[in-house]
Amino acid sequence: MQSFPLPTINSCHFSSYFVGGSLSTKDIDGQLFLAGKYRMMKKYSTIRYCVIITIALLIQLRPAYSQYKGPERLSLDKGWRFYPGDHAFPIIKGHGMSYNNAKAGRASGAAAPNYDDSKWASVQLPHDWAVESPFDSSENLSQGFRKRGIGWYRRHFRLDASDRGKHLELQFEGIATHATVWVNGTVVHRNWCGYTSFYIDITALVKYGEELNNIAIRVDADAQEGWWYEGAGIYRHAWMVKRSPVHIMTDGVFAHPVKDAAGNWSIPAEITLENSGQARTPVEVELTLLDKNGKKVTGGTATVAVNPLDNAVVKLTVPVANPALWWPDNPTLYQVITRVKQHGQAVDSLLTTCGFRTIRFEADSGFFLNDKNMKLKGVCNHQDHAGVGVAVPNSIWEFRLRKLKEMGVNAYRCAHNPPSAAFLDACDRMGIMVMDENRNFNASPAYVRQLEWMVRRDRNHPSIILWSVFNEEPMQGTEIGYEMVRRMSAEVKRLDTTRPVTAAMNGGLFAPLNVSQAVDVVGFNYQIGSYDRFHAANPTMPLTSSEDASGLMVRGEFKTDKAKHLLDAYDTQKPAWGATHRVAWKAVAERPYLAGCFVWTGFDYRGEPTPYDWPTAGSNFGIMDLCGFPKTAFYIHQAQWVHDRPVLQVVPHWNWPADSVGRPVKVMVMSNAETVKLLLNGKLIGEQKVDPYEMNSWEVPYRPGKLEAIGYKQGKEVSRYKVETTGAPVSIQLLADRAAMYGDGWDAMPVTVQVLDAKERPVPTANIPIEFELTGPANIIGVGNGDPNSHEVEKGNKRSLFNGLAQVIVQTEEAASAPLRLMARSKGLKMADITIPVIARDAVQSVPVVYPALVLDGWRVSQVTVQRPDANKAIDANDMNSWAPIKSGLLQPMEGGNFVVYRTVFTPFAAQQKKGGVLTLKNVTGKASLYVDNKLVETKNNPASADMIINIPPATGERILSVLFEAMPGQRVGIGGVSTMK
Ligand code: GAL
Repeated sequence: MQSFPLPTINSCHFSSYFVGGSLSTKDIDGQLFLAGKYRMMKKYSTIRYCVIITIALLIQLRPAYSQYKGPERLSLDKGWRFYPGDHAFPIIKGHGMSYNNAKAGRASGAAAPNYDDSKWASVQLPHDWAVESPFDSSENLSQGFRKRGIGWYRRHFRLDASDRGKHLELQFEGIATHATVWVNGTVVHRNWCGYTSFYIDITALVKYGEELNNIAIRVDADAQEGWWYEGAGIYRHAWMVKRSPVHIMTDGVFAHPVKDAAGNWSIPAEITLENSGQARTPVEVELTLLDKNGKKVTGGTATVAVNPLDNAVVKLTVPVANPALWWPDNPTLYQVITRVKQHGQAVDSLLTTCGFRTIRFEADSGFFLNDKNMKLKGVCNHQDHAGVGVAVPNSIWEFRLRKLKEMGVNAYRCAHNPPSAAFLDACDRMGIMVMDENRNFNASPAYVRQLEWMVRRDRNHPSIILWSVFNEEPMQGTEIGYEMVRRMSAEVKRLDTTRPVTAAMNGGLFAPLNVSQAVDVVGFNYQIGSYDRFHAANPTMPLTSSEDASGLMVRGEFKTDKAKHLLDAYDTQKPAWGATHRVAWKAVAERPYLAGCFVWTGFDYRGEPTPYDWPTAGSNFGIMDLCGFPKTAFYIHQAQWVHDRPVLQVVPHWNWPADSVGRPVKVMVMSNAETVKLLLNGKLIGEQKVDPYEMNSWEVPYRPGKLEAIGYKQGKEVSRYKVETTGAPVSIQLLADRAAMYGDGWDAMPVTVQVLDAKERPVPTANIPIEFELTGPANIIGVGNGDPNSHEVEKGNKRSLFNGLAQVIVQTEEAASAPLRLMARSKGLKMADITIPVIARDAVQSVPVVYPALVLDGWRVSQVTVQRPDANKAIDANDMNSWAPIKSGLLQPMEGGNFVVYRTVFTPFAAQQKKGGVLTLKNVTGKASLYVDNKLVETKNNPASADMIINIPPATGERILSVLFEAMPGQRVGIGGVSTMK
């Protein structure tokens, strides 16, 4: 027997900004999730309830790390202009245009800093434009029949003069799919993967003070990387980070605990520093480990000198005695503060999170966490949610993970791409083990950088237990595939030797040379029939199922109807390559050598509408639907995977039409008890020993009334569950997922919508249109109902129930503290009206939003002359040399004469072309004559610095501005500030 011994794994980036922007662990497991209580909350008790919630939150122990202040990490989510389409670049013709086009800072079209974007929409990130578009049968089925196309984003910002000298970096966490980024008219990055983050050092490119900076991004979402819905646009967060010249490189702290053979723990930290300054700088690096209460546990220091425009790596090992371990049901986290000190003063610092735990995959006995053998009870998932597409707020990730935990999940495969940073932080806090997956299978340098980025960003997360280099690659059974994996695996090992590399194989397993020989843990996709054969042939290889089941069901449907694109939710439907949930789990559970399973999928997703085509637009594989409403598979797995509390559930609903009376209806009971009894209207239908894999079912002749199941252990009742025939709906009910929200502009929460009969019982068969109204400091950011066949819009304030349920997602506005009120109406029903308390919480600090006026730049200056020149003399198109480019904001002494001309050509924004505008030249110094379109419009006879302000009449197209300065030799002249047209 050979095992893959893994010392111990590590930590994660968990910077202070995120603490400010998301719910803490305490919030997740604690007071905020009170859906049950909240349901009972009546209007009259709202105020009292608000007070209780607020006090509860105030007194809850905020870990000390929330006080931690690192470098300035400012959100760039707000203040974007967006255009849903392409803007062709002007055709480059002629010498002048060709010359300029080839120069830094001279990007044209919508990439130009001065482009008029004032008519574009204002959007906030995360943003997915594909989910805003209607379903269209001519679009790609795999992408959920949504138009993708091309889009443009633009954002302006100012930097304070005090920022000069700092190291400035833009960070984009994810843009779907291809992105080209310009800063101040210079192309700074091209990104070819919709799932990788990228960081751009803009220190050398930016302007300070009054001057404006511009980011322009062209996103090409026609490019596709998957066969599932991928969304379109800047769909994850964006940031600007300001650091001191000597600083920790982004993702530059690797501080992961390991346990040696003697059982001693330590953190062998590796810190990469950069220096954007001008001098070699000696620094001290100090590492401090804090426990979950913020108390210092231990620490260490090291010194290093960093050369200018270079980097240096510091290694430092800190022993740790008796740490509390990270477990799925008790995921203890520690914080590592890394400080960089210059002359004893901290100049940069970073907070990362780590967890102490060991992982091990054995060839004959599967997976071990902290030396405890356990099955991975995992699910695969894509990253879209109802209403919001792939622009999933952090708190919705937490909601989804909470639903999975409720089902007994302990593992998650990010299919088939790296997830968002916030998602991994939540997995660390919630105790979910992650298979982190690379998107593009490609061993060439540009693509290996994507893999490198993934490992660098994610290697501190205790949640990560496997690196997956691919999913189902046709080359998996070939020499080329083997050689590629060998290289990609080596790249991973260069950065992290503590976790195994895997690949999700769906074939090629028995080829003489195949990928299984180049990984540490072999992943099987849909290979039930080969598990034993492969294990027998390769007894030393650790194995896991990386993808299985692919069971198909539609929530709340109990009859498969091909014409209506429906699939029964009795776990009978599957594609040819798949297995039902029950069969797939049994195959894993009964084989000790398999580490575990990753069910395809935890949630439905858009696209891949197997086994149907248009009009079905979403998948049917989910254990839950797109909103996170459970299907029968949820309860099957819950009964199989949850052992610490009773699980009991009955399907179907009991609202069958009158002509069903007397006909047999299949009833399925999911339970983790030993035996179950089923009763209809108090009469025993039967008692069965619970089959822990298959569950239990009966054919029950239908009679309306109460169908009840009772679970027993050792003869004692442990659980009871009933479904009842309901009356017609009479009222609407709104169920908030949490008892309160944070008023920080980020917190988003799903609210469940259902209808009740006269006895206040939810009507599970209702498919009624509902309209919502929201008042207070919040917005509806999406609606859904989990129906894969629905073409209703996902934005706005209307949605029909699908089999009794719909979901509205509300998000608070920044600086909100007043409660919000959500109302739901439908004709003939009593409306629902709930008030959701909002707790004030500081918003994540942002780069201030500026919607700019036109800034006149591109100035050129003539040669100084003794004679008064013709201020309006044309410059030849091929003359690149007699007029020099000059930046406004600087004065220069008059040398060798008395006259000089400043010239710029500009195109006013559309509004000013139409209505005219005000031109302001700031701090004009020297005697000056101002000409617009070759006509004298203003003269300034006093040489002292003063603003020149003139009205410009309406006119279309380009305008020429010339300023003739007159001064004595040596006197300073010029435009001392920024020139704008408003
Ligand atoms: C697998 C694939 C998944 C999904 C699934 C559907 O082959 O890895 O992405 O397509 O099939 O059953």
